[in-house]
Amino acid sequence: MVKPFQFARIPSIRFKNGVIAGLPGLTGFYGKKLVIVTGKSSFIISNQAEKLFSDLKKVSADWRLISIPGEPSPEMIDNAVQLIGGEKVDLVIAIGGGSVLDAGKAISAMLYKPDSVKEYLEFAGTKEHPGTKVPFIAVPTTSGTGSEVTKNAVISKIGADGFKRSLRHDNLVPEIAIIDPELTLNCPEDITAASGMDCFTQLTESYLSVKSNPYTDALAIEGLKAIKSSLVRVCKEGSNIEARAEMSFAALTSGICLANAGLGTVHGFASSIGARYDVPHGLICGTLMSAANDLNVRNLRKNQDISALEKYKFLGKLFLDKKEGSDDYLIDGFIEYLYRLSEEIRLPGLKTAGADESDFELIIKNTECKNNPVKLSNEELLEILQKRYF
Ligand SMILES: [Fe+2]
Repeated sequence: MVKPFQFARIPSIRFKNGVIAGLPGLTGFYGKKLVIVTGKSSFIISNQAEKLFSDLKKVSADWRLISIPGEPSPEMIDNAVQLIGGEKVDLVIAIGGGSVLDAGKAISAMLYKPDSVKEYLEFAGTKEHPGTKVPFIAVPTTSGTGSEVTKNAVISKIGADGFKRSLRHDNLVPEIAIIDPELTLNCPEDITAASGMDCFTQLTESYLSVKSNPYTDALAIEGLKAIKSSLVRVCKEGSNIEARAEMSFAALTSGICLANAGLGTVHGFASSIGARYDVPHGLICGTLMSAANDLNVRNLRKNQDISALEKYKFLGKLFLDKKEGSDDYLIDGFIEYLYRLSEEIRLPGLKTAGADESDFELIIKNTECKNNPVKLSNEELLEILQKRYF
């Protein structure tokens, strides 16, 4: 029997090396007045940016550039919206990592609205976003969050009273996602590793989620195959375009999966820890993935949850490259693979990343893991944090 499920719409996806060259030609459908959102500088100073801006001039486009220096805060979004004011904008284009894409998505949703974006954030605001927006094109330059295909933008305030909350509406899915793996070639090794682990976590958590369905499972498995063949390779050989393309595919796929199946404990922690300290999202995910799955398996065995354990067995076969093996061998082998991977791509523990053990109680209180395949107690959540502290 097929479980009931929903599957949100996805953008029109253009996936190809060099496909950014087609972006200027796509803008004409929407109009000539653009807002282009980028990160601090890495894209802007690239040859690809020079070519893009020259081609945009050829189609008589006119644009305002907005730079987003880190994970977007409510103030960053409000300031960008204020700067644009009542100016006519036909299209917002974001070119960058997950933070830049989230910022572009939020700006496109907040233009011409008088309130702060804070008012519309889930669990933090007082209003529901109406879903009205300026058309939006997402162009990722890292392979991680999958924001190019999702309907939410994560907005953060970092500190003791910090939060990470989503601006979310079905209509906020970008109109077009342009996935050009060549744009990720210059991504530095630490960001490649952290964003790759974010993507790996997203695929694994949505595959194991209590809300997973046959569509998301089929996609997650394809994404996980790409992770298996290319995550370590891309961290060691950043200029390998084949590995970069596989990671771009995995990230895109992880975005579709998470939007439709939800995520688990690791992303619960990524939200509560990321709200408190200025630690990259992917690094928190990567660091905690091994211990969190270790605890999941321990509890699933206790509960004799056969269907979730079958999924872990499948992950074991995939990541150990084995067709056969006992259930325990394959499942334990997957967990060991995750611990080894943390070492191999040199993911720091939480302490080195900037977290403080004395905050763990508070962090656990603020951690939601509603789609995790098994419920973990507060003591078990603490065990996960302690296992990956040093
Ligand atoms: Fe994530």
